[in-house]
Amino acid sequence: MLEVDSVSKSFAALRALQEVSLRVGGGEIVGLIGPNGSGKSTLFDIITGFQRRDEGKVLFQGAPIHASSPDAIARLGLIRTFQHSEGGQRMTALDNLMAAARNQIEANLPSALLLLPRVLRLERANVARAKEILSLLGLSAIGNEHVGNISGGQRKLVDLGRILMAKPQLCLLDEPTAGVNPSLINVVIDTLIVMRRDEGITLLIVEHNMRAVSELCDKVYVLAAGRVIAEGTPAEIQNEEAVISSYLGSRRAAYQ
Ligand SMILES: Nc1ncnc2c1ncn2[C@@H]1O[C@H](COP(=O)(O)OP(=O)(O)OP(=O)(O)O)[C@@H](O)[C@H]1O
Ligand SMILES: [Mg+2]
Repeated sequence: MLEVDSVSKSFAALRALQEVSLRVGGGEIVGLIGPNGSGKSTLFDIITGFQRRDEGKVLFQGAPIHASSPDAIARLGLIRTFQHSEGGQRMTALDNLMAAARNQIEANLPSALLLLPRVLRLERANVARAKEILSLLGLSAIGNEHVGNISGGQRKLVDLGRILMAKPQLCLLDEPTAGVNPSLINVVIDTLIVMRRDEGITLLIVEHNMRAVSELCDKVYVLAAGRVIAEGTPAEIQNEEAVISSYLGSRRAAYQ
């Protein structure tokens, strides 16, 4: 579904990514781990069109996307969350989910006005679906709260709710458990399992919580200083000396 082929990116003298290659197959959950500053978010920016690569190729479902805009890439069915989510703070949680679905309607119906009855029907179905998703996420009680007023962890769950509404083919998640209260981390893990199993959404996730990585990921790539230093199953990479010395031995990798 996604092929990153020998992508390099520099910021002035800093070589943020050096000949990075990775593959994500349809239906997989693939992890991307590595120390702070190793280039994980930069790679996400490049895959989703927010930054341009210097060299290499990015293919989504076989077609090159490294010259496409974020909007064009999203319309193909590839979306992402941000490490620090800030969108939609002045909207309620429910409206955030509705907005994610409305984008779908606008993308799919060329002339929404001509199809008004159908749009109204879709809108009603979307409200029902949004409420169902809030319930799945344990957020029913805060559906009418402004997202700016809820906890960082709950905001991360709203981000996941937006993805369930948008139903992309592939979603890139940048640290879905970061800042999430330990008691909610299982809700995040369970939601990602539902995304793949029930919605058929393929996932590429940056994650420092190694328990989440082990429970979720079929395959993991390890970045260090802009290079892929290891790839394999969670069990395989956890035994690699280079991974332990550059990352797993550090304080950032968490196991709780
Ligand atoms: N727009 C930019 N301009 C200049 N340097 C940048 C830019 N974006 C990222 N960098 C640098 O590129 C390197 C990789 O950063 P990136 O944010 O991709 O790391 P990361 O692996 O996501 O780290 P973290 O785990 O802290 O989120 C860092 O040294 C960072 O300072
Ligand atoms: Mg990052």
